[in-house]
Amino acid sequence: MNILLIGSGGREHALAWKIDQSPLVDVVHSTPGNPGMDVIGPCFDVAADDIDNLVKLTLQVEPDLVVIGPEAPLALGLADILRARGFDVFGPSRLAAQLESSKSFSKARMMAYGVPTAAYGEFTTPALAKSFLRTMEAPFVLKADGLAAGKGVVIAETLEQADAEVDDMLSGKFGDASATLIIEEFMHGEEASIFVITDGHGAVYLPAAQDHKRVGDGDTGPNTGGMGAYAPAPVVTQAVMDRIKSEIVQPMLKGMAKDGMPYQGVLYVGVMVTGDGPKVVEFNARFGDPECQVLMKGLAGDIVPAILAAATGGLDGNEDAFESLFELERFDPTATVVLASEGYPGSYARGSVINGLAEANNMPGVTVFHAGTDRDSEGAIVAAGGRVLNVTASGASLEEAISRAYAGVDRIDWPEGFCRRDIGWRALKRS
Ligand SMILES: Nc1ncnc2c1ncn2[C@@H]1O[C@H](COP(=O)(O)OP(=O)(O)O)[C@@H](O)[C@H]1O
Ligand SMILES: [Mg+2]
Repeated sequence: MNILLIGSGGREHALAWKIDQSPLVDVVHSTPGNPGMDVIGPCFDVAADDIDNLVKLTLQVEPDLVVIGPEAPLALGLADILRARGFDVFGPSRLAAQLESSKSFSKARMMAYGVPTAAYGEFTTPALAKSFLRTMEAPFVLKADGLAAGKGVVIAETLEQADAEVDDMLSGKFGDASATLIIEEFMHGEEASIFVITDGHGAVYLPAAQDHKRVGDGDTGPNTGGMGAYAPAPVVTQAVMDRIKSEIVQPMLKGMAKDGMPYQGVLYVGVMVTGDGPKVVEFNARFGDPECQVLMKGLAGDIVPAILAAATGGLDGNEDAFESLFELERFDPTATVVLASEGYPGSYARGSVINGLAEANNMPGVTVFHAGTDRDSEGAIVAAGGRVLNVTASGASLEEAISRAYAGVDRIDWPEGFCRRDIGWRALKRS
């Protein structure tokens, strides 16, 4: 079968790489893709949020399955439009994708279905928000309702900072996305990323992963899109996973289906493992980046049957067969290290040449996924974004995976780049 994959990041390179290995798949078409993806299959130049042209492209390519990587086209309803045209699509409807595109919607669904999450209030006027803050304890968690490219959450240490943030957000810091503000109780614990592949009824779970959001070693400095990840994450024990399934995922899927918004695709559950059990930090309507790179690299089995079943409704009742594809015995411990442009997440330069990619890619257990890269006029790979490469490696243990990933990093010659040197530290500290 033929696939059309939408997106251009490290997540999409990893998806293309994994999907292409399936005996079920002939060609992986991507749009817009990147220099790592155009050697796997043809890439087109339609952007991931250009809905009209994505529909035209799909009609032209006639894929057997459309896989939507990023959140923007999901929030714009691309999955609905393509399904109405008769295509099988891996990705939720616009209504279901509101679990990511509106934090207010997501919190309301959690309340309605009795799913554990932080207590909260929702505000559109500063006075009410500020009086609510005075009923809470520091630190204060303030969240813009809508999509804000990972910058919409502020954790304020003092009431003064929180008040100032209320004014900023409600006066349009993120435009419409912060016209509504969520103020949440701060949850203490360790975070983990859970990915559920679902057709809206049946569900299969990938091994738990952990992301590293802060730019600096020891989880210091500003938040980023993610500087590295690993799986499996030992903070999610079997007992914790069982509670995530029964207390979070099953009631969410059941509730969404009952309310006429069955969730089809991959659901990301951002979990805080607290002393009081797992609680939801947020949902996303797609794979996390860079967690996806780790999951695709570590998975021994074929991913395509599960994503196809999620798209076509074949998961429900067949979970056991799919679950066995994803069990821990069939997953190699894996880590990914993000190489970013010096200056990221602030401003950074573009166009510096990167050497040694083929050599790094040939090292034991290593696969280098492209994110923000481009080719210059001579065909050299150059930096073209903030997060540029994902050096990903598997091993017999997480320790080995991490040391292989850093060996790959050290083989790459790119003086204008940097990375964190402590990816996986929480897992290593436990063992
Ligand atoms: N209620 C909370 N308690 C503690 N930390 C939180 C809470 N909500 C969010 N965070 C922290 O802020 C980060 C970003 O929040 P999140 O809801 O995931 O928004 P987004 O990913 O859209 O920016 C989380 O990964 C977590 O570290
Ligand atoms: Mg998040």
